[in-house]
Amino acid sequence: MDIAIVGSGYVGLVTGVCLAHIGHNVVCCDNNEEKIKALKAGKVPIYEPGLDELLEKYRKSGRITFTSSIAEAAKKATVIFIAVGTPSKKNGDADLTYIENVAREVAQNMDSYKLLVEKSTVPAQTGDRIARTIRLNLPAKHKQGKNATLEFDVASNPEFLREGSAVEDFMNPDRIVIGVESKRAERLLRDIYKPLKATIVVTNLATAEMIKHASNSFFSTKLSFINSVAQICDRVGADVEKVAEGMGYDKRIGRSFLNAGIGYGGSCFPKDVDAFVRLAEKSGYDFKILKSVRDVNEQQKEWFVRHVEDKLWIVKDKTIAVWGLAFKSNTDDMRSAASLTVIEALQDEGARIQAYDPQAMPNAKKMLKGVKFCDDPYAAAKGADCLLLITEWDEFRQVDLAKTRDLMRQAVVFDGRNFLDARALGELGYEYYGIGRGGNA
Ligand SMILES: NC(=O)c1ccc[n+]([C@@H]2O[C@H](COP(=O)([O-])OP(=O)(O)OC[C@H]3O[C@@H](n4cnc5c(N)ncnc54)[C@H](O)[C@@H]3O)[C@@H](O)[C@H]2O)c1
Repeated sequence: MDIAIVGSGYVGLVTGVCLAHIGHNVVCCDNNEEKIKALKAGKVPIYEPGLDELLEKYRKSGRITFTSSIAEAAKKATVIFIAVGTPSKKNGDADLTYIENVAREVAQNMDSYKLLVEKSTVPAQTGDRIARTIRLNLPAKHKQGKNATLEFDVASNPEFLREGSAVEDFMNPDRIVIGVESKRAERLLRDIYKPLKATIVVTNLATAEMIKHASNSFFSTKLSFINSVAQICDRVGADVEKVAEGMGYDKRIGRSFLNAGIGYGGSCFPKDVDAFVRLAEKSGYDFKILKSVRDVNEQQKEWFVRHVEDKLWIVKDKTIAVWGLAFKSNTDDMRSAASLTVIEALQDEGARIQAYDPQAMPNAKKMLKGVKFCDDPYAAAKGADCLLLITEWDEFRQVDLAKTRDLMRQAVVFDGRNFLDARALGELGYEYYGIGRGGNA
């Protein structure tokens, strides 16, 4: 099938490449000319394991092409996936400006049936708004009064991939959700995904939009729940890792998203929780659980900073090593990363920061001021009064901890992800502070 993807970021690019991989002809579009220039030259603008090889293969074979023109992308394609950003407004609403822009531009260039598919995460009823925008912006020759004479459909096909394992997640989905209002749209989407042999859940548009919001909000809820449990563990001498393990064996609960830490970040959970709270408010419902989830997440980051300050005693002029900056491992994405809040708060108290991240430093350099960015974990630890582990990169498990200890001024570790081997660190003479590990180790 001929498919266009509008928005070639973390979601759009992975979707485009994977759709090419399962046999479709894909044109990826983005209004960022630099990005398109790089992609045409075979350069992948993001770090995502496995993406480079697939992109190179299908770029060379011509199954995937790139353009900065929506008109050009939409010309041949029957199905157009919208994968542009939906960031938060100041009041928490999802900012749907990019979605509207794309819908308008597609409409202005429509000359045959098109199926517009929401891949971006959007609040319920956005599909109706897109359909209206298309009707309003169709060329006069395709309208009779207020009515469109050219057929089109709008569908929702939310994306559940995780950055860091996006290609793998796309190719092996737990389920594919399609929200449709016509049999034609359902048939087209079923055909596109046939090669994946996945379970397909078919709903109406609004339900599919809700599934995505409810899913991300539920993950966030699990994380804030276990972070609250961790707080009590610290106070009563229990180990949250064992609590999560003991809970996780119960199939009704599951072990995933029960990792205590310094709070969730990233481009999705914070903004999607905000948008869901606002959607609820506007529909007349006070979504109290979700408001608490958000508060607990903020508190967790603040608590971590206070905890470091308390144990360090004097923060001013101390050197603090930071391992990991990305909001999670295996990505270079720094959007709403917890590292930003933690580093800026400690800098405000007069600390000097030496940081290392395997992939996210180019993005981090654009967002953090006054940080010394280092070439490896040892350089970051050199002369430090304590070390903060912020992102759970596998690389940090390979580091020689004895060598690190000897490089540091004080062997003190705050493990913000309960990722390092607490016992090994203790044996090497480190003071180790995890999250919810019973007060100390
Ligand atoms: N990142 C994730 O892990 C993830 C997972 C599931 C869903 N989502 C959702 O997918 C959507 C996209 O997220 P992302 O992380 O890929 O964002 P992103 O910022 O990486 O990519 C969005 C792209 O859209 C482009 N764009 C904006 N307006 C455009 C226009 N008018 N025409 C063409 N291109 C335009 C931008 O230049 C950018 O490259 C969001 O709604 C997000 O919530 C993201």
